[in-house]
Amino acid sequence: MEPENPLLKRAYALDGNATEIRSLYRDWAQSYDADTVDGMGYVAPEQAAEVLADRLDGAAMILDAGCGTGLVGEALSRQKTSGVMIDGIDLSAGMLERAAQKNVYRKLSEADLTKPLDLAKDSYDGVVSVGVFTSGHVGPLAMDELARIARPGAPVVVTVHEKVWGPDGYADHLKAMEAKGLVRVREIRDAAYHEKEGYSCKLCVLEAA
Ligand SMILES: C[S@@+](CC[C@H](N)C(=O)[O-])C[C@H]1O[C@@H](n2cnc3c(N)ncnc32)[C@H](O)[C@@H]1O
Repeated sequence: MEPENPLLKRAYALDGNATEIRSLYRDWAQSYDADTVDGMGYVAPEQAAEVLADRLDGAAMILDAGCGTGLVGEALSRQKTSGVMIDGIDLSAGMLERAAQKNVYRKLSEADLTKPLDLAKDSYDGVVSVGVFTSGHVGPLAMDELARIARPGAPVVVTVHEKVWGPDGYADHLKAMEAKGLVRVREIRDAAYHEKEGYSCKLCVLEAA
């Protein structure tokens, strides 16, 4: 099924080229929230935030990897979590500018999730990444970095778009990460993603080891 929104069409046609990703999200930053949440029924940020919040126990430092305009940060701050602080990283300066306007992030920085991150091992008590493991954005290898920067026992909650789950070998990659002792896979559930577009995702709940 082809998406109707031309910007979503452009997103699904990406091939991992960082310049094109930045260009698309520069063009999309202003209308992204309305287009996705209202237009497409984008429920993944809310769902992932709920799953992450359930696994936090008091004060926590969270990384939102590929935070975009900050929908996940907003959703997390609506959860009954006290003492939770959120940092966000993203490739797109335009999306980060929108995220800053939400006033829910402690710190926002540009970073490329396909490269080693300039963040120390065990830096975060939880990591969340929504809408980033999808066509032409970021592949399964990037999960290794998310596991590295999460402290042992920390939840790592990641959505993987249904279009790439099988073709990009996510199930095997997660098994390999488990075999290497990087994570424990706690749950992989089918979840709604873009409800109005009819897309689903795998919502992966990992625990850093
Ligand atoms: C569909 S948006 C999701 C944004 C936000 N997490 C949400 O759920 O609304 C995908 C985001 O991934 C970011 N992105 C794509 N490739 C990236 C990369 N290699 N490193 C960091 N961020 C990337 C884009 O800039 C964009 O903000």
